Amino acid sequence: TVSPLQYRGGALHLERVALEAVAQRFGTPCYVYSRAAIEAAYRAYDAAFGDRLHRVCYAVKANSNLAVLNVLAHLGAGFDVVSGGELARVLRAGSKADRVVFSGVGKSAAELRQALAAGIACFNVESAAELERLNQVAGEMGLRAPVALRVNPDVDAGTHPYISTGLKENKFGIPAGDALALYRRAASLPGLRVQGIACHIGSQLTDLAPLREAAGRIAALREALLAESIAIDQVDLGGGLGIAYRDETIPGAAEYAAAISAPFAGSGVEISIEPGRSIVGPAGVLLTRVEYLKPGAQRNFAIVDAAMNDLLRPALYDAHHAVLPLREAGGEAKVWELVGPVCESGDFLAHARTLALAEGDLLALRDAGAYGFAMSSNYNTRPRPAEVMVDGDRIHLIRARETLDDLWRGEEMLAE
Ligand code: LLP
Repeated sequence: TVSPLQYRGGALHLERVALEAVAQRFGTPCYVYSRAAIEAAYRAYDAAFGDRLHRVCYAVKANSNLAVLNVLAHLGAGFDVVSGGELARVLRAGSKADRVVFSGVGKSAAELRQALAAGIACFNVESAAELERLNQVAGEMGLRAPVALRVNPDVDAGTHPYISTGLKENKFGIPAGDALALYRRAASLPGLRVQGIACHIGSQLTDLAPLREAAGRIAALREALLAESIAIDQVDLGGGLGIAYRDETIPGAAEYAAAISAPFAGSGVEISIEPGRSIVGPAGVLLTRVEYLKPGAQRNFAIVDAAMNDLLRPALYDAHHAVLPLREAGGEAKVWELVGPVCESGDFLAHARTLALAEGDLLALRDAGAYGFAMSSNYNTRPRPAEVMVDGDRIHLIRARETLDDLWRGEEMLAE
């Protein structure tokens, strides 16, 4: 994929928009996304499956802004949601419910009811207890719930332990050894219609081998179910590819689609995937301004106006986001720690970056479109940043910067 970011005349552009202009107009910190990059990433997955029956369900958790969802809905995307809130957003953004799958280990009865009433495409059920609850709720509503069981294939995805989900010790999915018995139980329940198998082994995967292995195990399970006359016509193989935060080599969408489809060759089964990061991650940047420079004997700190509450990934996972100056710098370069104003030593955005910095400089943190705004908070009573989408040379504010009134809405002081 081609990056939507480019220096032109010394100024960093996203599509045809100079990011300085965005910072000037909406202030910093500010998230900016490229519509073209989001669309290209979606289309690459969609095209990779060719004429095989497939569905690309964008994982809403990565970035749930209504404008992002709306752009994808226009392309005919499906959606993977993990809460009633995400389902409501997807419908609000103009998608039909029959393109939505519902994942997650802790769906409440109210969420099951909401999703049944809306008529979603599939519930990815993660435990025996959830299966019983879904059957009961559907029965009360006089409906049959479409289900897949999320099976844990016990494959090591080789990613960060916090975002690896396919091992036996993870809380996710149904242990492979329990799957057959649970499918028999599901097939016997009147409130359920068994239609699929789902799995998801982790996020930020850069190697196809574990994905291939997981797909193979799911195909074998499908055969075993067929032998018991439980027909599965849909498989959901989980999240998408990782992205190149540094210089990782990432397989192309076509290679990825070929790898996960191979075990299902010759079967008419519909293959779904649930990519989040790879659709919106490279499409977004977080703009921030240097407040103070604090060079020191041990380390040089650049204190910027974005913080861990705006972009949590570095603090939480020690994640790396490249830092680009909005103006190509002359000046003398030094090694800087980029830190935010939040009162925690863990509040950093980047370690040991060689940059020529001056107070007031504008910077972009790259690859911040996924799990950026979505994981932001108001810690330290910091209003969350504005979000902007560029489209060619047009600039759209898609979420206003929060105000202090937004922050204390709903709070009440004692009468005396
Ligand atoms: N499907 C399921 C069931 C998932 O749990 C996830 C991500 C996805 C799909 C989307 O995976 P993706 O295509 O984005 O890799 N906050 C972490 C990532 C957490 C991922 C959680 N599940 C981060 O910032 O790296």
